[in-house]
Amino acid sequence: MKIPDVAPGGRILGLGHYQPANIVTNDDLAKNMDTNDEWIQSRVGIKERRVAPDSESLEDMATIAGGKALAASGLSPEEVDLVIVATCTLETQIPNASAVVAHRLGIKAPGAFDVNAACAGFCYALATASAAVRGGAARHVLVIGAEKLSQWVDWTDRSTAVIFADGAGAAVVGPSETPGIGPVVWGSAGDKSEAIAIKDRDNFLRQEGQTVFRWATTTLHPVALEACERAGVDPSELAAFVPHQANLRIIEAIARKLGADQAVIARDIVHAGNTSAASIPLALSRMLERGEVRSGGLALLLGFGAGLTYAGQVVEIP
Ligand code: UT7
Repeated sequence: MKIPDVAPGGRILGLGHYQPANIVTNDDLAKNMDTNDEWIQSRVGIKERRVAPDSESLEDMATIAGGKALAASGLSPEEVDLVIVATCTLETQIPNASAVVAHRLGIKAPGAFDVNAACAGFCYALATASAAVRGGAARHVLVIGAEKLSQWVDWTDRSTAVIFADGAGAAVVGPSETPGIGPVVWGSAGDKSEAIAIKDRDNFLRQEGQTVFRWATTTLHPVALEACERAGVDPSELAAFVPHQANLRIIEAIARKLGADQAVIARDIVHAGNTSAASIPLALSRMLERGEVRSGGLALLLGFGAGLTYAGQVVEIP
């Protein structure tokens, strides 16, 4: 047996994102259900979100975000040999999104698989990509978080309809002399699997909001701290904290316990809503585009959601 050449580290080489053009405000929602702008902003932190029309698929959004990440990385499609899409809202189970997106981007015959770890999916996929690069299984990996939650939301259920949204974010991962993606800390709580679920194929996404809220605000900050510790990074060295954009109150509760006062906290939820596996790469890519974070800074990512699942790691911003 021969062991392939391995890379000392993996790093993010480029980021990209895409949001549907259609903006839905809280007042828009209040026209069709018993809710209001004040409740949504104070309980969840969302002012508006993007919702894709029927004509725009999850794969469409993933392809645009992936193409932008590829352009930002400076690589050509031929240089990518693995594509991973993190998603939990495909319209159908077969085919997977990864092979479709790869084909549309002109990436020739890459390894292609989807990851379903719900809102933690991007962090799981990023860790898998980094391991593939470091182990010699792939040279360059396109990792995409893409969701069309609007097609799994009951638009008469105010407890979920006001929260979830559509979008995509992507990162290209490649080899590096120095590590740019820290060790992942990941785990799950299958005893709480009922807390966020689509019960069968004829159903919509339902959530026990308070169960998930309590879990997220009491059990995840040690995961965030452990991800820093395993990367050898003190929270005071972080340039950014980019948690899953689930609820602004959850984001701020975890940020307080993290004690990284100097770090920019991602609050993308205000204008993007909760886009599950897309929320972390979408937020980070938009922060970089707006100049809120700089290339070379360290960002702590922390995904959490249905399963229940969670995963976090420190990354160097490309
Ligand atoms: O992304 C995956 C991970 N998911 C999460 O992290 C979600 C975690 N959970 C949450 O973010 C919050 O629990 C929610 C935003 C889902 C709900 O907020 P909450 O503060 O926990 O509200 P609640 O469910 O306890 O409801 C409080 C009240 C209820 O009325 P009563 O029974 O007190 O009269 C609800 O019926 O608010 C009512 N309510 C609403 N009112 C206006 C629930 N949804 C709405 C609404 N507009 N959209």
